[in-house]
Amino acid sequence: MSLMRRLERGQSAEEAQRQNPAPERKDPTGDLPAGGSGNNQRPTSLRARRISQPPAGAARGGYMDLKTRVQNRLLAELDPTLDIKKDEVRRTIQELFDQILIEENTVLSRPERQRLFEQIVAEILGFGPLQPLLDDSSVTEIMVNGHKNVYVERNGKLHRTPIAFESDAHVMRIIDRIVAPLGRRVDEASPYVDARLPDGSRVNAVIPPISLVGPTLTIRMFSKDPITVEQLIEFGSLTTEAVIFLKACVEANLNVVISGGTGSGKTTLLNVLSSFVPSDQRIVTIENAAELQLRQEHVVTLETRPPNIEGKGEINAQQLVVNALRMRPDRIIVGEIRAGEALDMLQAMNTGHDGSMTTAHANSPRDTLARLETMTLMAGYDLPVRAIREQIASAIDLVVQVDRQRDGSRKVINITEVVGMEGDVITLTDIFQFEQSGFEEGKVIGQLRSTGLRPNFLDRIEDAGIHLPPSIFGVGQRPRY
Ligand SMILES: Nc1ncnc2c1ncn2[C@@H]1O[C@H](COP(=O)(O)OP(=O)(O)OP(=O)(O)O)[C@@H](O)[C@H]1O
Ligand SMILES: [Mg+2]
Repeated sequence: MSLMRRLERGQSAEEAQRQNPAPERKDPTGDLPAGGSGNNQRPTSLRARRISQPPAGAARGGYMDLKTRVQNRLLAELDPTLDIKKDEVRRTIQELFDQILIEENTVLSRPERQRLFEQIVAEILGFGPLQPLLDDSSVTEIMVNGHKNVYVERNGKLHRTPIAFESDAHVMRIIDRIVAPLGRRVDEASPYVDARLPDGSRVNAVIPPISLVGPTLTIRMFSKDPITVEQLIEFGSLTTEAVIFLKACVEANLNVVISGGTGSGKTTLLNVLSSFVPSDQRIVTIENAAELQLRQEHVVTLETRPPNIEGKGEINAQQLVVNALRMRPDRIIVGEIRAGEALDMLQAMNTGHDGSMTTAHANSPRDTLARLETMTLMAGYDLPVRAIREQIASAIDLVVQVDRQRDGSRKVINITEVVGMEGDVITLTDIFQFEQSGFEEGKVIGQLRSTGLRPNFLDRIEDAGIHLPPSIFGVGQRPRY
């Protein structure tokens, strides 16, 4: 997208806001950009507009006015053929910005000037008020609930920020800027959308009339340096013993489901477990939004595709699982199972594609099995429940339950073996379990402990040439590392 087009989008929105209430506007959202038509609405007289401004008493109003004026003048004066990707754009903007301030005879302190400049650059080249949050590496999630409420998650805890958008129309403009380059759109006909920022961060946007609090935006920040197994141990999410056990399970080709609530750390743990896959194996990953960051060389990454505006062209996870089976995979890793792909995944696990891994939304290992059952039924075959349970029991070897604790930390709370069937019931055995001993100074105190039971699949681990000391399972001496 050229700089001109991007600026025009921004400018047409500013115009709409400034002319509000504009009787001829019918669009309830105010200003979804209309393909660069902003050019026609550009004010001919900046002076006339300045006169119509409220008195300079309202500091914020005055500041916004100055920002809009400088932005509009930049729009008028920047070379329209300039490509926004080029580095010199920032320098050009800086030069024009300095010049405009001199011409306007505006005196600003150095910090004010810097702030104004950064805000304008963020509007033109970045994602407006969100830009400083996107640049802040301590932020793991950004949540916008209408233009006045912006929350972030830091260290697993929610905080409200002082950041606000100028209006709901401003939020809409930023949403559009995120989704438009991906060929997506969000409007009354399709009022929610999933997208990804250029850096890989996962974005979901929902706008009115579905959202009653104005346009909302949720951004799961993509971490360039994904959490490592060492960090998981350091954070207290896992213990060394549990890691040794899980590594052995992955190397011995067991089928693993990681389950947990939303944002509980499922994908992060899947990424860590995937790193244990030996590098001589061919891995095919299937995700709705590619989040996994595997370090192995031989990885094929597949991503599902939502339907286009006419509702056509969807490629779902189920289709990709079926396709992956034809790709000679050693491992199939599905980012998250939600629906009918569960059946194909179970069938794959039961027909020689061992070592598969996935995640599922569920509150306990038992709940995971129930969710799998429901998902399998979603595949649309009229299978008897018992047959489904048998498939599940023989396919899944291990369920790893993660949980977001009330102190914001994420912990593995169960590592559970799926043993088999007893009558109509699938039997489960906890191998590790989190034992909470207290809650002190806002922190959950406890430890992931082995239950003393050895898994039935231990012989499969031994067959793979891996010997786990009995101490891993809490038998005899604890190992020294
Ligand atoms: N063990 C951990 N300790 C601290 N932070 C973690 C841990 N695991 C994950 N996180 C952070 O928590 C957030 C959510 O993690 P992740 O994406 O893995 O969760 P999820 O369960 O897959 O979420 P969703 O349900 O949305 O797919 C991320 O910002 C991640 O960096
Ligand atoms: Mg996830």
